Amino acid sequence: MVVPREEGERARRSLASLGMLRRGLRIEDGDGTLLLPVKDEVSIGYPLKIHEFKEMSQRPRSYRELLEVPEELRPLLPRAHDIVGDVLILKIHEELASFEEAIGSALLKATKSVATVAVDEGVSGHRRRRTLRVIIGRRSTRTVHREYGLKLAMDPSQVYFSPRMAGERRRVAQGVRTGEVIIDAFCGVGPFALHMARQGAGVVYAVDVNPSAIEFLRENVRRNHLENVAPIQGDVRKVLPYLEPADRVVLDFPKSPLPHFTLAASTLKEGGILHYYEILERDSLEERLEDLSSALPRGLAMELLGSREVRGYSPSQGHYALDLKISTG
Ligand SMILES: C[S@@+](CC[C@H](N)C(=O)[O-])C[C@H]1O[C@@H](n2cnc3c(N)ncnc32)[C@H](O)[C@@H]1O
Repeated sequence: MVVPREEGERARRSLASLGMLRRGLRIEDGDGTLLLPVKDEVSIGYPLKIHEFKEMSQRPRSYRELLEVPEELRPLLPRAHDIVGDVLILKIHEELASFEEAIGSALLKATKSVATVAVDEGVSGHRRRRTLRVIIGRRSTRTVHREYGLKLAMDPSQVYFSPRMAGERRRVAQGVRTGEVIIDAFCGVGPFALHMARQGAGVVYAVDVNPSAIEFLRENVRRNHLENVAPIQGDVRKVLPYLEPADRVVLDFPKSPLPHFTLAASTLKEGGILHYYEILERDSLEERLEDLSSALPRGLAMELLGSREVRGYSPSQGHYALDLKISTG
C-alpha cells in the first residue's frame, strides 16, 4: 500500500487494527511515500501496488512485531518474562491459549540466545518449585545462567531461582569481609553463597531442604572453582543449631521468614548481620520491625542498618530486604 509519509503511522495503525498489516516484512521508504506490506486487498483510502518486500533482517524491537494475533487480543500479550540461562519463562493469558506456539516462536526469533520458551504455571510447596510447560524449543529446561560472572547450573522446574534478585545478591556480597563465617539458610542453587564465597568469605554454610538444589549447588561450586562453600541438604530448623556461630546469615525465604527469625538471630556472633527478606504490604514495615524485635532471643537487641524494596511484588506489596545488626542488648 502506498501512503504519503506523513500519514504513514496513521495508516499503519488502521491496517494493524483491521488485522491486515503483514508482520515480519520491512516497511519501505520511497519518494515522499511509504510502502506498507498488507496481507490482502484492503481499502482504507490508499492505492495498492505489487511489491517484493524484504524480510526484516534486523532483530525486531519486540516479538510482537513478528506475531499475527487478532488485534483485540494484542493488549493481552505478555509484557514481561524472565530469562534463566537460555530458557525464557513467561505467563500467558488463558484467552491466548491457542496462540501459545506462535508467541513462543516469535519470542525465539526475537530474543537473543534463547533456546526454549516455557509457560510458568505457578510456584508451589515449601520447596518453591515452579511448574514449567515447554511450548517451543529444546524440551529440557536444564540450563546454565550467568550472574555477574558466576555460572549457575540449574533446572528452573526443579529448583527456585529468580534472576530479578541479581543486584541484591551482589550488594550483599560486596559487604562481606575476608574470612567471615556465613550461613545462607535457604540457599537454592547457591547464588548468594557463591557470590559471598567469591568475595573472600572464610566459609559459607549453604542449606536447603531440596536435594536437587543442593546437587546443583555442588556442581556450581565446582564450575566456579570455589572451595569455601559447604553445601548441606536438610531443614534449617535441624541444621542451624549444629553450625558454628556466624558473622552473617542470609534468610531468603520471603513468603514466610518470621518463624525462622529467632533461630537465625541466635546463630549469629555478637554484632553479626542478618539479611532478612520478606514480601510485605508497603505500609507494614514498621509493624514488622516491632514483630522482629519481640521475636529476638532473650538478651539480644537489633539495629536496622538499612531497608529497601528489592522489587515490586504486587500493586500493594513489595519484596523487602532488611539488614539487621544483632547484639547483646
Ligand atoms: C526463595 S528460595 C531461595 C532462593 C535462593 N536464596 C536464591 O537466591 O536463589 C527458598 C528456598 O528455601 C528452601 N526451603 C524451604 N523450606 C526449607 C527448610 N525448612 N529448610 C531448608 N530449606 C528450605 C526451598 O527449597 C527453596 O530453595
